[in-house]
Amino acid sequence: MSEANLEQTLETLRTGALHGVRAAQTLEALEAIRVDVLGRKGSLAQISKEMGKLAPADRARVGKLLNLAKQTVEQALESRKAEFELAALNTRLNAEWVDLTLPSTAPRPGSLHPVTIVQKEIEDLFISMGFTVLSGPEVETEFNNFDALNIPPDHPARDMQDTFWLEGGHLLRTHTSPVQVRGMLKFGPPLRMIAPGRVFRNEEVDPSHEHTFYQLEGMMVDREVSVANLTYFMKTLLEGIFHRDVTVRLRPGYFPFVEPGFELDIQCLLCGGKGCPVCKQSGWVELLPCGLVHPNVLRFGGIDPEKWNGFAFGLGLTRLAMMRFGIDDIRLLQGGDLRFLRQF
Ligand code: PHE
Repeated sequence: MSEANLEQTLETLRTGALHGVRAAQTLEALEAIRVDVLGRKGSLAQISKEMGKLAPADRARVGKLLNLAKQTVEQALESRKAEFELAALNTRLNAEWVDLTLPSTAPRPGSLHPVTIVQKEIEDLFISMGFTVLSGPEVETEFNNFDALNIPPDHPARDMQDTFWLEGGHLLRTHTSPVQVRGMLKFGPPLRMIAPGRVFRNEEVDPSHEHTFYQLEGMMVDREVSVANLTYFMKTLLEGIFHRDVTVRLRPGYFPFVEPGFELDIQCLLCGGKGCPVCKQSGWVELLPCGLVHPNVLRFGGIDPEKWNGFAFGLGLTRLAMMRFGIDDIRLLQGGDLRFLRQF
């Protein structure tokens, strides 16, 4: 091939290759062009072979042109490849783009435990009637839990409240009644107090028995407190809880720390007293024990029973929450299962 022809071929090759590079859409297409043009058996190598037949002066000139063409095509390939890489990067960045101005997913607000809900309502009610909310320790002395409540060491009532004994004569309190003793000693008469809290019994656990549950104790000490006063406060309490009129009755009930002692029943709210499965066809549901404070208990609390008397009651907070929310297994309350707790 003549020198002029070679130059012509070179030029056509260069423009063709540059055009191909610009038109290429994939890395594979670019690689194909590179092999075609710059490869060991590619077109430029072909021309380089042909150059051997040229006169030395022409050879030098065509050689320069050939190198130039090679460089141009190489650069074009490189920059097109960089374009591809940039495009790929942009696609990826777009896919990963996060809108930092969007509000974050808020943590789920917690909710009150069903026992706490009922407890707070009762606290509000009693506060509105001039009662103080007290709390006592869960680890109590044997004296406060039993003796000061008129339950001496050999008294059979101790068997009804089997507990967990700790070292040094301490125990896990079996009821909130020891807070009565603490309240009397701390404040003296007249006294209106309630004491919600956690209590413990050494019980077999089943759907209606727990070793750990909640009570709410109430005590009022004043002059000439009567069973009528007790009934009034208990009715007000229950109407506050159930948000309607209730009918109550007192049955004799024995607790060493009250005299007389009662079981207070409420006329069944479901059937209105006619009899249904909830009240076991009796028309009444047993709700809370109560009574007038035993003189011995007042004395242990540093109060003169000749001058003062009072009433006391013990409300099963856990049981009340179960009634209120229709919970049929006591174990759910302390199970820590969020699926259960989120319903409140
Ligand atoms: N403390 C008693 C119990 O847990 C309940 C009670 C309290 C009874 C106050 C009468 C008066 O069984």
